[in-house]
Amino acid sequence: MAKSEKLFYCNECGARYPKWLGRCEDCGQWNTIVEDIRVSNGSGFGSIYGAKTPTNEIEFSDLSYSNEKVERILSNITEFDRVLGGGAVPGSVVLIGGDPGIGKSTLLLQVLSAFSQDHNCVYISGEESSEQICLRAARIGANNSNVKLACETNVDAIINSLSKVDFLVIDSIQTLQSSTVESIPGTVTQVRTVAYELINFAKTTGTTVFLIGHVTKEGAIAGPKVLEHMVDTVLYFEGERGNSYRILRAVKNRYGPCDELGIFEMHGHGLFSVSNPSVLFLTQRNNDIAGATVFSGIEGTRPILAEIQALVSKSYFIAPRRTVVGWDLNRLFTILAVIETKCKISFADRDVYLNVAGGLKISEPAGDLAVAACLLSARSVNPIPNDTCIFGEIGLTGEVRSVSRCSERVKEAEKLGFKNVILPASNKFPKESCNINLMPVQNLFDIIEILGMSKRHE
Ligand code: TYD
Ligand code: MG
Repeated sequence: MAKSEKLFYCNECGARYPKWLGRCEDCGQWNTIVEDIRVSNGSGFGSIYGAKTPTNEIEFSDLSYSNEKVERILSNITEFDRVLGGGAVPGSVVLIGGDPGIGKSTLLLQVLSAFSQDHNCVYISGEESSEQICLRAARIGANNSNVKLACETNVDAIINSLSKVDFLVIDSIQTLQSSTVESIPGTVTQVRTVAYELINFAKTTGTTVFLIGHVTKEGAIAGPKVLEHMVDTVLYFEGERGNSYRILRAVKNRYGPCDELGIFEMHGHGLFSVSNPSVLFLTQRNNDIAGATVFSGIEGTRPILAEIQALVSKSYFIAPRRTVVGWDLNRLFTILAVIETKCKISFADRDVYLNVAGGLKISEPAGDLAVAACLLSARSVNPIPNDTCIFGEIGLTGEVRSVSRCSERVKEAEKLGFKNVILPASNKFPKESCNINLMPVQNLFDIIEILGMSKRHE
């Protein structure tokens, strides 16, 4: 006889409790624990997906690999194809998360409309009415495409109604519910069950499924972490309010490189791919201002130049402020400590603000040298020449360490008209291979000397 077991889950982190609590002991969040009911079929409780796995014998295969290339389908929206690793893979499941209003529905409607020229495409919305979606389609010029549209929240009804579909968009996974689970949509068990059913559908039919996911206020995809483990690809759609640029970032991709970036611009008629992002991130540069320089970074498979800005001001706080946008705060602490200890330049009575212009987030250690140069430049009120590009990692002894993919970084700087590149000497980059002035540096003292910053302004 079917019996039910009462359980309580944390909606934020998925931790499980036998009774309700006001605050999750695992993640420390308040009011996130909700009741969940699992139904047993009488022979023990099922797997996390609600169904008991069959006990038939399994078949084994060997590790021989048929050398066929993974088939890919291009949407011809270049930045989207790039982030997926060169097009969509049939049967794969892609999860796209992002803040409300960032443009997830717009992006996927555009992608689906592009795919619908040669493939069967279905858009299922659990959030908006058909009229709203049709209005958006008219806005982006997709109202004459062959995309089939439905507003439905029951996953079983959705799966039963689909046949011979190549691309499916679910907007959003948090609004769907499965009849096998009693809890309300968006709870951990519902999201997990619905995702499992859709992934199963994708793998058995070869349909490429795009799942839109809500994010929590911390920026992670709402629901259980296992959702990100289950899908093949996880993308985040990011951007700043009041800025028309949007960044699509791959954080997991079983079929391509992760950390790949796709850059879009939101216009009145939808999203447009930005083919040369370096130009975009450098457009608003001013001439020779102290505390700003350009970093030649690598994002995924391509080099991207970005402007880094630092502001060093007199502090009126007991503990001076350190604020970062687009950079890791702990890394800023480390660089400041190295400058203070090795170069004897103090920031103790100064507030430090560091910003990567254009909404880009840099996580590469290769950005250290550019950040250090900005801090030194802002501290000494001594501008770094406008035509200079910098990259290199800084070690704790103040040495500048070599970085990967040096030639791509130099070539990108050269392509964008920079005259000088400050780079790690240990990279031993041959001067003859480019038409740009190379300035190799071994440690922080070299950069102080090159940029003439030894004079301190109090
Ligand atoms: P939407 O795709 O609904 O965001 P999400 O699904 O992530 O919540 O996009 C909403 C925003 O995008 C909204 O503020 C209006 C803006 N937008 C444009 O600027 N241009 C357009 O062509 C479209 C369709 C939307
Ligand atoms: Mg939406």
